[in-house]
Formats: sequence, C-alpha cells, structure tokens
Amino acid sequence: APSDPDLVARARAAKEALGDRVFVLGHHYQRDEVIAFADVTGDSFKLARDAAARPEAEFIVFCGVHFMAESADILTGADQKVILPDLAAGCSMADMARLAQVEDAWDALADAGVVDSVVPVTYMNSSADIKAFCGRNGGVVCTSSNAEVALGWAFDQKPDAKILFFPDQHLGRNTAVQKMGLTLDDCVVWNPLRPNGGLAPEQLRDAKMILWKGHCSVHGRFSPAVVDELRATIPGINILVHPECQHEVVLKADLVGSTEFIIKTIQAAPAGSSWAIGTELNLVKRLANAHPDKNIVFLDKTVCYCSTMNRIDLPHFVWAMESLVAGTVPNQITVDPETEKWALVALERMLALPA
Ligand code: 13P
Ligand code: SF4
Repeated sequence: APSDPDLVARARAAKEALGDRVFVLGHHYQRDEVIAFADVTGDSFKLARDAAARPEAEFIVFCGVHFMAESADILTGADQKVILPDLAAGCSMADMARLAQVEDAWDALADAGVVDSVVPVTYMNSSADIKAFCGRNGGVVCTSSNAEVALGWAFDQKPDAKILFFPDQHLGRNTAVQKMGLTLDDCVVWNPLRPNGGLAPEQLRDAKMILWKGHCSVHGRFSPAVVDELRATIPGINILVHPECQHEVVLKADLVGSTEFIIKTIQAAPAGSSWAIGTELNLVKRLANAHPDKNIVFLDKTVCYCSTMNRIDLPHFVWAMESLVAGTVPNQITVDPETEKWALVALERMLALPA
C-alpha cells in the first residue's frame, strides 16, 4: 500500500530539521517506506563498515535489527547515539545462541581435549556478548559477504584448526562445503538444547567444523522442490539465493551470496533474463519493481517477510525522528564497555580481512 502522505511529510520535515545531526542507515530487508529515508542502504557488512562514516552525526537511526544497531554502537564514536526505532526488532536466529550456551560448548571442547585448536567464528547475526566471546578467544565475526575469507583466516590461525561456527548452521555448512573444500562429514551440528550438544567427545575431536544448530526462519522456508518446479516451468530461469538457505537449496542454485551480491547480480543481468530469488520479500519486490525489463520471481509460494525487520515501519520511524527533534533520545542501543571492547576486537578483525 502507498505510504500515508501525512507520515511521509512528517518524516521528511523531521529529517530536514535534524540535518547533519542524524545519519539514517537502512538494511536491504527494510520496507520501501523506510528505505526512502535512508542515507545509506546495505547488507550487514556494508552497514557495519559505513556506520562510522559520519562521525559528526550525533544520532544514528538504525533501520534494521537489534544486533546491527549494537554493532553500529560498537563501531561508532562514544558520543554518537544509536537508535533502533522499535526495540522489538530482534532476530530469531541471533536469539538461538546465548552466551551461556556458547560457554558450555567451549567447556565441552575443553573436556574433549581440543579447545586449544578451536577458533570461534560468529555470524554478524549474534548478540554483542557473543561477538565479545569471539574477540576474547582469538575469533572473528563474519557476514554473509565475507564468510569464505573469514573461515580461511580462522583455519590459518592454528595448526589443525577447527572452527566453532554460530549461530547459523546453514551459512557455516554452505561456506565450508562450497567454498572451503570441506565435506559434509567434516561438519557436526552442536545442538545447544541437548547435553554435550548431542555429540560424543570423539565427534568433537574428528570434526573440522562444529556448526551451531541455529537457522533463519525466513530463509529456512525455501525448498529444493520449488527450485525444481520453477526450473520446469520457466525456461532458462536463474536461481539466486542467500547463503542462509538450507544446503539442499544452495546446491541447486546457480548463484549464492549476500543481499548486496544479489542486488549487484540483478543490476548486471541482461534485459529479458529470468531470476528466482531466495531472500527476504521486501528486497525481492524492490528488485522486481526496479527492473521491469527482467523477469523476477520470488522463490516461494507464500509470503515471506522477516517479521522483525518489518517492525520498523513508517510510524515507528516518524516517532523516533520526531522524538529527536523534540530533544529526547528514544530507544538508544548501548553496549557495556567491557563487552564493547572485546566485540570491537572481533569486528575489527573482520574489517581487516582482505575484501
Ligand atoms: P546480509 O545483510 O549479510 O545479506 O544478511 C541478511 C540477513 O539476514 C540480515 O539479517
Ligand atoms: Fe534474522 Fe533471518 Fe530476519 Fe535476517 S532475515 S534478521 S537472519 S530472522
């Protein structure tokens, strides 16, 4: 539905009133009505890199989810305030790994006698205390656009290195098998809800990749059967998916990559080409609208928005911006100094990786 013109006018007025005091970041999964007001849009890697681009901005309004706003707070100046327009915009995948559970896994690796060879790697989609755990323990953060380099870095840190990868088993498995030359037998899945992760100590000793049993509820819905169906019905269709999809879907796809990669691929695609895209629906719709000369379909039969990304809507955005104009700071996201210090170590290791 078109945005309420009154709200659009209010958002515009608030943005104008704040001028350079505010910097608005928008993740590619945000609604069109919110993306319209973003100074910078990007995937989670680009937004982490760009968060510090306006040190003079007093406020960073982060249109995305909680872990991204936390990372922006960690990566920006102490006097810059990061605001998340709706505090309920979390990420169910990030919630699948809690620090105490990660520490239990670490203890089990110590009991199995292998912890000294383990390098922890966390997906950006995790809380700040988990990033800090990685910083403290010689590990790194990765995103879907640099998982291959990050895993390469991690395997180079120690002789016979093993990786403990969390929270997304699919990104971990897809990268290990498709990019690092590992086999499915090199990977085991740690289930945080079972004693000892549901694994025997010798399984921990033999594995090269220990994958946390977490997943994205949005990307987890794409199925290999729909890929087959689309290939059978749309001649020449290209299947383009995000690496948070299940391994069976990724195996059947033509191209796999982060949201930024998906956008660049579609921009470079020839007119008349056909694409089925397996990622969040706001982005797929926006791409379809922006490229009417290409045939772009969604890789699912049902609606598939990320419900938490969608919580940031125009009313919440207007409320946050107008509060700033009125002199109050709503929904500020802050990370405590000790957590921030170590999470920054892990994030800076990521930002220093070769592009
Ligand atoms: P990217 O931004 O790395 O493409 O990841 C998608 C995602 O799920 C963010 O929550
Ligand atoms: Fe989390 Fe998935 Fe939503 Fe991304 S799309 S914020 S991984 S639930």
